[in-house]
Amino acid sequence: MCGIVGYVGYRKAYPIIISGLKRLEYRGYDSAGVALYDGKIKIYKKKGKVSELEKLTKDKDTEGTIGMGHTRWATHGAPSDENSHPHVSNSGNFSIIHNGIIENYSTLKKELLGRGYTFNSATDTEVLVNFIEDIYENNEIDATEAVRIALNNVIGAYGIVVMCKAEPEKLIVARRSSPIAIGVGEGEFIIASDATPIVEHTKDVVYLNDNEIAVITKEGYKVLNLKNESQTPYIHTIEMELEALEKGGYDHFMLKEIFEQPRSIADSIRGRIDPENKKVWLGGLVDVRKELAQAKRFIFVACGTSWHAGLVGEYLFEEHIRIPVEVEYASEFRYRNPVIQEGDIVIAISQSGETADTLAAINLAKERGALVLGICNVVGSSISRATHAGVYTHAGPEIGVASTKAFTAQVSVLTMMALFIADLKGKLTPKSRSIIPEMLQVPEKVRHIVNQSDKIKEIAATFKDSPNCLYLGRGSNFPVALEGALKLKEISYIHAEGYPAAEMKHGPIALIDENMPVIFIATKDESYEKIVSNIEEVAARKGRVVAIVTEGDTAVRNIAEFVIEIPEIDPSLMPLLSVIPLQILSYHIAVMRNCNVDQPRNLAKSVTVE
Ligand code: M6R
Repeated sequence: MCGIVGYVGYRKAYPIIISGLKRLEYRGYDSAGVALYDGKIKIYKKKGKVSELEKLTKDKDTEGTIGMGHTRWATHGAPSDENSHPHVSNSGNFSIIHNGIIENYSTLKKELLGRGYTFNSATDTEVLVNFIEDIYENNEIDATEAVRIALNNVIGAYGIVVMCKAEPEKLIVARRSSPIAIGVGEGEFIIASDATPIVEHTKDVVYLNDNEIAVITKEGYKVLNLKNESQTPYIHTIEMELEALEKGGYDHFMLKEIFEQPRSIADSIRGRIDPENKKVWLGGLVDVRKELAQAKRFIFVACGTSWHAGLVGEYLFEEHIRIPVEVEYASEFRYRNPVIQEGDIVIAISQSGETADTLAAINLAKERGALVLGICNVVGSSISRATHAGVYTHAGPEIGVASTKAFTAQVSVLTMMALFIADLKGKLTPKSRSIIPEMLQVPEKVRHIVNQSDKIKEIAATFKDSPNCLYLGRGSNFPVALEGALKLKEISYIHAEGYPAAEMKHGPIALIDENMPVIFIATKDESYEKIVSNIEEVAARKGRVVAIVTEGDTAVRNIAEFVIEIPEIDPSLMPLLSVIPLQILSYHIAVMRNCNVDQPRNLAKSVTVE
């Protein structure tokens, strides 16, 4: 999705903005631009990567201690130089960068066209900047007031930064449903759409709330709401370390993040498990213990990989709490008039905490009276603030667009939640309780699996040119199959599907021939014998079987073309291990196909538009 970086201070803005835009590249984008003020406003923008923008500005004037930069992920209008941000109003007085979508832009555009305005781009953003100008020109008000009035009249989502030639010493920043963070340094401010460009300059950050406007000069800043009432900003201290945002010797962020999982899982469970007394303690849920103890149903809402984590959560909650669970795509839930009843608790799962559909699902569930909990990775994110209570995953920043360590951290948290709630309800069986100390073994077992990366690379070489791939699993390994398929398709562009293994004979078996790779997750659990039969069925049709098996397995080894052994663990913890070889396999295949692993085509790290 689009990225924003702004700077006001005493240093040259351009290099700070460019390095900030590079930190935001992970979000996915198709063009980039900057506006700089140094006596006059200079604008440079270009379709393509930030490096293209750098080439454009190589011999240009990039002076100025105030500026703003943007990476655009196309919504209205194709990726092009004209559609790139910043956009400038007709008189040249206002420039803007914008994340989000102005939904009533066509009505506003019609009005502005009627008043003689012209447009150079197909964007909603250019409409917004001219709308601001029109208000400014027709009233005796300052730029901030013009922005405030304009925002009171737009429908949609925005994170914006506005520069005004007539009031050049300030940046005007605002948000609704699209995050804006303001880094507060010594005599300088760095504005960004997430904290990653800020962390190398300062750890003090103000997150704007929805419908707030900040006016920032190098002397200071003030925050207003859309009613023009002054707001008291809260300064958060961010804990993110700079090293976490760098590749640290790995070729790609995705590989680094796969290898980080022993640590990220350990961080997600640290301090939350008491192995001796076999207890789980989740501080973020303490205030809602009564509601949890009385819960009658849980509804998970999420998208993508987080939705897959929710599906694993369904198995965990039903197994340990013996309570009904539904797992909903947030995008469907929000428009489906869902039935929410007394005793329903909605749990939103999101790595970024900014996914627009998940946020909308939360708001709907709240409107209908549900208690809404969050499982988020990004501290201070919109979802973590919109939910009544929740648990952070502590996976650390995830930069690769393909989610890896966030998934295992989410499943770790869901496991602890299931055990914590079962205990609150007095339903924790001795068998479930025995999982609590066993969780502490997960990081070491994951380490053992990532160390097999080279072996998995050999398997990847065999299948790198396959146009299709099928992933099959049973029980809680079924969502792992879905996740394996998603990983492969999003980074290697190979068509892949995940299925419950038993469903194969109801359709997908027709696809099996000597060219079809079929990845089975066939670890030891109560459906093991059944999945061995499914493997036989594929092998009988000459499908090329790769099987993830428990160490020491012999039955599958005799049938499969390749096996990847993973350590034994309680089946309820198995998704934390069985997903790892699938992540590694996808990674190697994508690299061998020369794909952009960290920034796959068309994808954004956090999907902040519908
Ligand atoms: O930040 P979120 O967890 O809310 O993001 C949800 C999905 O957009 C995300 O998981 C997406 O599917 C990833 N590309 C998967 O690797």
